[in-house]
Parts: sequence; structure tokens; C-alpha cells
Amino acid sequence: MPQVLSHQQLLEIANEFGTPLYIYHAERITEQYHRLQEAFKDTDATFFYACKALTNVNVLKHLKHIGCNIDCSSINEVRLALLAGFEPERVLYTSNNIAFSEIEEAVSLGVHVNIDSVSNLQKFGERYGHSYPVGIRLRPNIMAGGNLKISTGHNKSKFGIPVEDIDQVLSVMKEKNLHVRTFHIHTGSEIKDVEVFARGMEVLFDLIRHFPELEVIDLGGGFKVPYTPGEEGTDVERLGKRVKEEFDTIAKKYGRRLKVWFEPGKFLVSEAGYFVVQVNVLKQSGDICFAGVNSGLNHLIRPMFYGSYHHIQNISDPGGKPETYHIVGNVCETDTFAEDRVLPKIKEGDFLVFYNAGAYGFEMASNYNSRFKPAEVLVINNKARLIRRRDTLEDILATQVILKD
Ligand code: LLP
Repeated sequence: MPQVLSHQQLLEIANEFGTPLYIYHAERITEQYHRLQEAFKDTDATFFYACKALTNVNVLKHLKHIGCNIDCSSINEVRLALLAGFEPERVLYTSNNIAFSEIEEAVSLGVHVNIDSVSNLQKFGERYGHSYPVGIRLRPNIMAGGNLKISTGHNKSKFGIPVEDIDQVLSVMKEKNLHVRTFHIHTGSEIKDVEVFARGMEVLFDLIRHFPELEVIDLGGGFKVPYTPGEEGTDVERLGKRVKEEFDTIAKKYGRRLKVWFEPGKFLVSEAGYFVVQVNVLKQSGDICFAGVNSGLNHLIRPMFYGSYHHIQNISDPGGKPETYHIVGNVCETDTFAEDRVLPKIKEGDFLVFYNAGAYGFEMASNYNSRFKPAEVLVINNKARLIRRRDTLEDILATQVILKD
């Protein structure tokens, strides 16, 4: 049984810390990490947590503590990772369209770097030659992922060097004597089908003979997690077996034993997160009953931005008679969390919980409407601990320069 926080626990924590509130469950993160380790135990696999999903330093420290590595998508994430105590060799920086100065900083910090343009690769070669190993982010031209906004490997995507341009990579490698250690792809987020990963491997395996110093195949992140009750996520156990078979075949064919890296974000933290809000207003309009909560797309943008489904429960009265509601926010534009959702009868003041709130929840929150971002709590060793206080008006003003004349 997966580790879950009960309605009662969530209610107690929400009462103690107030709402809107993000709550994360450390043991659930550990459980997901162990599931990956077990699924890939017969391969030389390393997992780098894609911290863009949730960067609270306490969460990063927990992932470090359980042995996971970390993947970053900006130089600030790299700085946070180092601050959380990750040794540089456990940090990966997979960049997209960044200034070369960030790559220089990443190199000076000693972390792994994946580069996703020929232009930055050239600059890298000029500056470092063979002295610093590099990863190449390729675009495999595979359409995959839960929706177009989170599909990154298709043939119109901005991400990575298109695989058909591999000759350009080869000529930079030869001309600048690059040490190409890693091939990277990330085809999208919420990929359920194991065959998508297999197709990605096939694209990369086809190229390895040209890269004598290649040691690592980095298949990115994108494992799907269940959002609706009873839904299945990516079968990581099957993927583990598939990866082993493919890598064994390559070892026989080329006499080279490659390592595999993954960068899971959602898989590690999505289900460990809960977002608790309170109902401000009930409003009947024709046959629609709106439940207006003390939050909005400023705190959890996924439903409005991607049409994502988040399961919701009334934790104040989970046994109440089922009724149908539109769950909406308090922002000054349409911000619908869920339409025609059947929930136990709601009263004003009731606490509702959104599940799967660990990944890209707080992390994509903003101060739109000058509202405060939610606080964050980490439940660790059976104790609920505040890991980010709620904003204050001073926080909102902190970076404004108020002109005196
Ligand atoms: N590696 C790279 C290079 C990535 O770009 C991403 C996600 C990951 C790993 C982790 O993917 P995951 O395992 O979390 O699917 N905000 C969207 C998801 C955007 C994903 C961006 N890149 C959402 O809320 O669905």
C-alpha cells in the first residue's frame, strides 16, 4: 500500500498551519525512489531528481539523504542543489536556450552539463576542448507526453539538437576535440507507454558507434503517475527489464557497457503532495453549484494551463451525501479547478484537498492579484514541519523600488 496521509492528518495539519497550504510527505518520496531502484536493480542506472517539479531546499535535502541525485534546469537550481548539500558530481544541469555564461558557471561549479544547441556546443569546445566531459541533448523526433505543452521530443520542438543534425555535432566534436560522455533525450512529461522510451533508445543506439568516449545514455524524465483513482502510471518495472535487455544487446554488439540515467520529477514528488484549501462561498446558479475556494490558478495552475485533472476530496466531511460542484478559485478571471465534480456535500468553511499536488504545484505558483503564495509543510518522521512560511505584504513589496518623487 502506498504511504498516504489520512483525511484526519491533513485536517489537523491544515488547522495548525492555515490554508491554502501545500503538504508534502517525505516517506512517500522515499517509497517512489525505492520503487525505481528496485525496478532498475539489474542495470547500471542513476536517478537525478528533476527539481523543477519542487525545489524547496528541505525536499532537496531529503532526496539527497535517501541517495538520489539531482537534475537542474537553471543555474539557480544548480545553486540550490549545492546549497542543499549535493556534491557537484551528483548534480546535472540540462539546459535549454541558455546564455553560455551559465554553462561556464556550471563548469566552474563542477557539475555535469547537457548542452542542447550546436551554437553553445561550439563555444564549449572553444573554451574547454577535451578538458571537461559534456552531454549532448538530442531531439529524437518522437511525439510523446500528456499534452502538446509538455511534449518536448517531437520534430517541431525547440528542445535539443535535432537528430538529423548529428553531422554538425560530429564535426564540432572532431574540430574541438570534445569529450562527449553523454547522450540525452527527454521526449515529454506523462509518458505511460514503455515503448516510447524504447524508441528513444533505438534512436540513440544508432549513433553511438560515432562517439568512442560515450559512457551514458540519459533518457530524461517523464514517467506518468496516476491522477484518477484506479488509473495506471508508467510500468517502471517493465521499463527496467526493457532497459536491461536493450543495454545487454548493445554491450554484446559493440563491446561497450553503457550506463543509463533518468531524470524523474513527477514520479518522485507528485503523489507525495497535497494542496489544502477552504471553501469561502457556495453560489447556486441555475443547475450549477459553484464552490469558491480561498485559492486559484495563482496557486495551482495545472488545471487551467494543461486541463489537468486533480482528484479532490472534502476532508471536513468525507462521508457526506454526494453532490455535484464546479470548484472554482478567487482570482479575477475564470479559474476553474474542476467542473461537474461529485463530492460529499460541501458547506462554507469546509476544507478540500487536491491530490497529486507535489509536482509543479507550488513551483508554478505566483503572486497574481497580489495574493500571498501558500505556505509549505513537510511531514517527515511523523512530524509536520513548516518549510516555507506564508508570504506577507512586505514580501510582495520586497523587490519593488518605490520612487520618492
Ligand atoms: N528532464 C527534463 C529535461 C525536463 O524538461 C523535465 C520536465 C523532466 C526531466 C522531468 O519531467 P517529469 O518526470 O516531471 O515529467 N509543468 C508541467 C510539466 C513540465 C515538465 C517540464 N520538463 C506539468 O505540470 O505537467
